[in-house]
Amino acid sequence: MSRILIIYSTTDGHTLKICQRLQQVIESRNSGQHVTLIPVEDCHQVDLRTFDKIVIGASIHYGRHSQKVIDCINRNLPLLESKPNAFFSVNIVARKPEKNQPETNPYLQKFLKRIAWRPRKLAVFAGKLDYPKYGPFDRFMIRFIMWITKGPTDPATVVEFTDWQQVEAFGRVASEM
Ligand SMILES: Cc1cc2nc3c(=O)[nH]c(=O)nc-3n(C[C@H](O)[C@H](O)[C@H](O)COP(=O)(O)O)c2cc1C
Repeated sequence: MSRILIIYSTTDGHTLKICQRLQQVIESRNSGQHVTLIPVEDCHQVDLRTFDKIVIGASIHYGRHSQKVIDCINRNLPLLESKPNAFFSVNIVARKPEKNQPETNPYLQKFLKRIAWRPRKLAVFAGKLDYPKYGPFDRFMIRFIMWITKGPTDPATVVEFTDWQQVEAFGRVASEM
C-alpha cells in the first residue's frame, strides 16, 4: 500500500472539496494507494517522511496563498523534493480560459517565484463564488472585483466554476506520478 498525503489550505472549504474528489479518484483506481488529507495548520504535527507522495493544494484570498502554505513548504523543502510531489492552486480568476493553466495563471506564477520548491506537477482549478456565505466586507470586495472582471455581481450568486473533469484528470496524474 503506498501512501499519498494531500495538505490543503482552505478558508471556505472548497479546496477541501477538491481534495476529497482527488482522494476518491486516486483510491478508486485500484492502485493500492491510500490518501490522507490534512489541513495546512497541522503540517508541523505530521511526519511527512512516512508518505510516499505529497500534494499541496491552496486557495487564493486577496491575491495570495496562505503564509502557512509557504511556511510548510520551507520547513519541508528537501523532504518534499525527495518524493513525487505536486501543487495546485484554487482561485476565481481561473474561471477565465486564458488564465486556467499553470503557465497562464498569474497567482500560480507569482507563487512559484516566492518559493524554492519546484513542484513536479502543477494544476490550477477555478474556485467557488458564494456571496451569501461571505461577510459584508468580503461580499462588497468580491462583487467589486467581479464587476471589474465582468463576472457575476448579483449578491445571491452561488456558483462553482470548478471543472470537475479537470480535477479528476489531475487525480489520475497524481496517482501515476
Ligand atoms: C475574501 C475572498 C477573497 C478572494 N480573493 C480572491 C482573489 O484575490 N483572486 C481570486 O482569483 N479569487 C479570490 N477569491 C476566490 C477564492 O479563491 C475562491 O472562492 C475559492 O474557491 C476559495 O477556496 P476555499 O474555500 O478553499 O478557500 C476570494 C474569495 C474570498 C471569499
